[in-house]
Amino acid sequence: VLLVTGGSGFLGRHLGRLADHPWQVVAPPSSVLDVRREDAVRDAVREWRPQAIVHLAYRRDDRRTIVDGSAHVARAAGEVGARLVHLSTDLVFAGRSRPYNEQDPPDATQDYGRWKADAERRVLDASPDAVVVRTSLLYGTEDPGDQLAMVQQASRTGRPAFFTDEIRCPTHVDDVAAAILTLAGRSDAAHQLTGPLHVASPEALSRADFARTLATWSGIDPASLPVTTLADRGADRPGCVILDSSLAAAQGIGCRPATSVLRS
Ligand SMILES: NC(=O)c1ccc[n+]([C@@H]2O[C@H](COP(=O)([O-])OP(=O)(O)OC[C@H]3O[C@@H](n4cnc5c(N)ncnc54)[C@H](OP(=O)(O)O)[C@@H]3O)[C@@H](O)[C@H]2O)c1
Repeated sequence: VLLVTGGSGFLGRHLGRLADHPWQVVAPPSSVLDVRREDAVRDAVREWRPQAIVHLAYRRDDRRTIVDGSAHVARAAGEVGARLVHLSTDLVFAGRSRPYNEQDPPDATQDYGRWKADAERRVLDASPDAVVVRTSLLYGTEDPGDQLAMVQQASRTGRPAFFTDEIRCPTHVDDVAAAILTLAGRSDAAHQLTGPLHVASPEALSRADFARTLATWSGIDPASLPVTTLADRGADRPGCVILDSSLAAAQGIGCRPATSVLRS
């Protein structure tokens, strides 16, 4: 059994659709498995006795869900000896021009990134063999998600504008979902499949270039998209955050560049 938290979310829905794996996937809704409630987490784990747990549940603006919820899941995983795959984010980093690898210490200054970094620490304290998967901006193709919705809206209404100096590694959600299932079945510390692991596209793109790529792919004129810079908007958020995912790639866990997936 593979127990999934946050299974109704964007990544969870894609995970649930993948068929080529040996797991019986169990994904209770948040009304049943609210990760803020340690007793609910423990009950679910005792009921299902999972061999592995994938922890996706989060709410970007809620510290309790992110930090306490992750600690509850990690403790329950530790109690039954389940392999834990914990989802984290590139935004545990503050941003710089050089890529970040797994040796770099998180240094986020904004709440979401700091909470996710706290969650990582709590997870690895309670479940030292967990793998902490950090990924970047997720998009889909069959179920494109928020990124395409933003592009469609911007093309229609002129808002929001996309930043030319906000650099990320846009990653196809199916690639991360497949990586998670692989990692759930492998817990080999010698191959560095425990602790932080960067799982993102090897291609860094600005939000503006990614939006234009999505626009072209979906038949929208990329020239219709408004662009701006973080500086012009006075936006206080990380600019360039590039994950170096070569460690995962060396273990056969790779993601495709967005411009090749979305080549139209
Ligand atoms: N999407 C991205 O671009 C991205 C990038 C980097 C990292 N990540 C990481 O990937 C993970 C999944 O992201 P996502 O985009 O799939 O998120 P999402 O679409 O926002 O889904 C969040 C999920 O968490 C559940 N949830 C919220 N509060 C909960 C609680 N207290 N107890 C149990 N479940 C709760 C939601 O269920 P309800 O709807 O029922 O509340 C939903 O199923 C997160 O850890 C996130 O940090 C995502």
